[in-house]
Amino acid sequence: MNKQQEKIVSMFDSIAHRYDIANRVLSMGVDKSWRDKAVKKAYEIYDQKSINNITDVACGTGDLMIYWQKVADSLDIKLQNITGIDPSVKMMDIAKQKIPDGTFVQGFAQDLPLNTDKTDIVSIAYGIRNVTHRAEAFMEFGRVLKPDGLLVILEFTKEQRKTWFSFIKKIYMTNIMPYIGKLVSGNSEAYRYLPDSIDEFATSIQLQQELVEAGFEIKFAQDYSMGMNTTIIAKNRNKTKKEKL
Ligand SMILES: C[S@@+](CC[C@H](N)C(=O)[O-])C[C@H]1O[C@@H](n2cnc3c(N)ncnc32)[C@H](O)[C@@H]1O
Repeated sequence: MNKQQEKIVSMFDSIAHRYDIANRVLSMGVDKSWRDKAVKKAYEIYDQKSINNITDVACGTGDLMIYWQKVADSLDIKLQNITGIDPSVKMMDIAKQKIPDGTFVQGFAQDLPLNTDKTDIVSIAYGIRNVTHRAEAFMEFGRVLKPDGLLVILEFTKEQRKTWFSFIKKIYMTNIMPYIGKLVSGNSEAYRYLPDSIDEFATSIQLQQELVEAGFEIKFAQDYSMGMNTTIIAKNRNKTKKEKL
């Protein structure tokens, strides 16, 4: 693991016990609706009544996994397995308390401990920004997904262009968020990292281009809450795949 990746993972380890509460306070609960909408849209696009495997990469404390199951139940979709993968053991410890019968594996997006062509849906929520080798992660998603399997990304992307809201957003993220983040989690560095990492990250359009280059077809891309959240759903069009050595 490179130094930068190591630092990111240990940061998540250190805030794990307060991550959920900080998340709810800082997003004012709106993240729940972003998750719900993304999962519903993915099920609509995938359009199968029985799904073998969903893998939530960068699962953290497991919130998206809970939505995959809850929405599947509400739509009468039979979901056989859902696996959470994350390099942070402490984040996954919290997830395990919330989902006692879930399957969890420690691992990185750029080196998934999964078989080739076996996963129906791969999701990654607010995780791809933390992956230092994004192109490798996209290759891995293409490898583990079945042909026509879906990749679902939720992320805070960099703004395409400035609007009147950009100024308010900047003040909130660079001044208010680290302050509240420190109060709730005891760690201001982690909540300073968030706006910095968004600034250094791709725009939604750039991310979509990278996905197309990695062999995905974009099926859905939408910004929510004045561009605070981006959801992208893409179909795996990779035909030839290399088995993992
Ligand atoms: C902001 S949290 C998101 C957690 C969860 N998906 C959610 O929606 O709340 C980011 C997660 O990405 C994980 N992470 C960091 N680097 C990663 C990598 N290279 N591969 C996979 N996960 C990574 C962190 O450990 C952390 O749990």
